[in-house]
Amino acid sequence: MFEGPQFAVPDAPGSSTLVDTGAVGPTGRPLPDFPEPRKPADGPKHATIISMCNQKGGVGKTTTTINLGAALAEIGFKVLLVDFDPQGSLSVGLGVNPHTLDTSIYNLLLSRDHTADEVIRESSVDGLDILPSNIDLSAAEVQLVSEVAREQTLTRVLRPLRKDYDFILIDCAPSLGLLTINALTASDYVIMPLECEFFALRGIALLTDTISKVQDRLNPDLGVLGILGTMYDARTLHSREVLERVVQAFGDDVFHTVIRRTIKFPETTVAGEPITTYASASPGADAYRQLAREVLQRCEEE
Ligand SMILES: Nc1ncnc2c1ncn2[C@@H]1O[C@H](COP(=O)(O)OP(=O)(O)OP(=O)(O)O)[C@@H](O)[C@H]1O
Ligand SMILES: [Mg+2]
Repeated sequence: MFEGPQFAVPDAPGSSTLVDTGAVGPTGRPLPDFPEPRKPADGPKHATIISMCNQKGGVGKTTTTINLGAALAEIGFKVLLVDFDPQGSLSVGLGVNPHTLDTSIYNLLLSRDHTADEVIRESSVDGLDILPSNIDLSAAEVQLVSEVAREQTLTRVLRPLRKDYDFILIDCAPSLGLLTINALTASDYVIMPLECEFFALRGIALLTDTISKVQDRLNPDLGVLGILGTMYDARTLHSREVLERVVQAFGDDVFHTVIRRTIKFPETTVAGEPITTYASASPGADAYRQLAREVLQRCEEE
């Protein structure tokens, strides 16, 4: 069950250049000291595109997209969050009601009559924009099948937006269908959130197999940025054991940052804002700030 990665992992974006602080982190490895994040460069932008992907439901994809995005925006980066799930949870989590949308990502995928400007909205956080979705997107999964270059449809939509953002984060649906293939094809990197519970690694071989197929056939530049342990409960031996097994299986691909289980995250969804503004001083907000630093460092090392 706890199989190792079966895909071509780019040279493990490990901790080689990080300073060892002497402390052992929740992943059981020495916890590095994350450097001050670099500030966004002036001049023309070319967004790095990252998909949060795991076909298992409820593992923290949407929570990670919103809060990693908010933490990057807090540093000063310009960030676009793409809701690529017909459930529209990312939209809801940022206070957008999916039922009242006139246009959504669906229109950009399937018609050329709409521009991204019409669909993109600003969130309550400075520098954090959102491309919302709703249930219409579930029709796209079927309609795209007969399109030319159906796997590259999202790539086409995002291409002109790259110059406007430093990061584009895509929140995938819990499936490995055509929408997720589109997300992986459009991305530079994928982050796999894994819930720290017993069945965490079940199905992960299918996910890594899908990623390697996309690397082979559609997007050779796709890299695995890392595996993120979520909903970790340090008080339980069980959580610690699961994380240990994940590190055994994936080594330095596992982010040092681990997101703990806290009721604050469901609360943020109700509030319609990221944890970095809803509970700015909370450990959950700090965890996503640390993840942002780790992500920046891994992107630079690649
Ligand atoms: N670290 C955490 N601690 C406690 N609850 C969390 C945490 N992260 C996410 N949650 C909650 O767990 C639920 C599922 O999280 P989330 O929606 O981010 O998962 P998902 O992988 O996007 O789910 P889906 O597959 O349905 O899209 C949500 O109610 C969310 O608020
Ligand atoms: Mg989700």
